[in-house]
Parts: sequence; C-alpha cells; structure tokens
Amino acid sequence: MRDAILASGCAVGLGLLLASPVSAQSRTGVEMGRNEFISHCATCHGIEGRGDGPMRPFLARPPSNLTTLALRNGGVYPRLAVSEIIDGRGIEGAGPHGTRDMPIWGQVYRDESQQQLRGTPFPPEWSVRGRIMALVEYLETLQQKKGDAS
Ligand code: HEC
Repeated sequence: MRDAILASGCAVGLGLLLASPVSAQSRTGVEMGRNEFISHCATCHGIEGRGDGPMRPFLARPPSNLTTLALRNGGVYPRLAVSEIIDGRGIEGAGPHGTRDMPIWGQVYRDESQQQLRGTPFPPEWSVRGRIMALVEYLETLQQKKGDAS
C-alpha cells in the first residue's frame, strides 16, 4: 500500500515535470528547484546562493557564488554548463576546477530514484533530469544583473 502511494506520488510528480514546457520558465520547476536547493545545496552555497553556507569553513575550496554565473559568462546564464556541473557524471574525475569538492549530484539522484521508482514503469533517468533541470531553472532566478550591488 505504501509503495502504491509512493508510486502514484512519483507518477504525479513526473507527470507535472513532463507537462511543463522545457524552454519557458515554469513555476513548478522553479519551486521544485528552490526546495531542492534549500535541502541539498544551501549548506555549502548559502540560502541565497552566494557561497556563504555554514559548511564553507570546512571545505578545501570555497563554494562558488551561484548568483554570478551569468555575470561571469558575459551576462548570459550558461544553462547547459550549469546542468553538467551539477550532474557531474560527465566530468572526468577532477571536476571543473581541479578536485571536485561538490557531490556528483547526477549519481546521488540516480541512486535515490532507482530506489523510489523500483516497480514503476518510469526510467530513473527522467527523475534525475527533472531534478537537475528544476535546479537550473531556480538558479537562473538568482542571477545578478550588471550593475546590481552584490
Ligand atoms: C559539500 C558542499 C557543496 C554542496 C552540498 C553543493 N556544492 Fe556546489 N560547489 C561546491 C564547491 C566547493 C564548488 C566549487 C568547485 C569545486 O571545488 O567543486 C561548487 C561549485 C558549484 C557550481 C559551479 C559554479 C561555478 O562557478 O562554476 C555549481 C553550478 C554548483 N556548485 C551547484 C550546486 C547545486 C545546485 C547544489 C545542490 C544540488 C550544490 N552545488 C551543492 C560545494 C558544494
């Protein structure tokens, strides 16, 4: 019974994700991304994504300020690069700036979704992509514009 409820909950979640437009920013995506960010990213990157989370002093490398991703890329938010960095599975062992201090989220999410979606017809990768895309959408809303006080 619990599994059935879990499975139908997942189905609704996936349905929402698949129904949301891929290019336009969707409110559902941004809200999902925000929840995900607060529960998985803010410890290092800070609630506002400025790189000042409570884990910062314990890391070998400072967590990046995630509000300047667009500014640092000539004013254009680098969606694809952001999704690849978060996923991390395609990045050879070392990561973007040498040794990677950040978890390989693509792998973490895949392990979780393999558990959660067991016995359902949904491929785990859909859930992984959905969670990463939600984060990419949310981070886009945090970007500073040129001239903003930082
Ligand atoms: C354990 C601490 C930690 C957690 C948790 C964490 N990060 Fe990071 N993140 C880092 C560090 C440190 C860097 C700097 C690069 C490096 O050394 O890996 C980084 C870099 C990044 C970058 C690259 C930024 C740039 O300037 O190129 C992005 C994007 C990012 N993180 C997103 C996320 C998202 C989204 C989450 C949550 C799903 C997350 N991070 C969770 C520590 C963390």
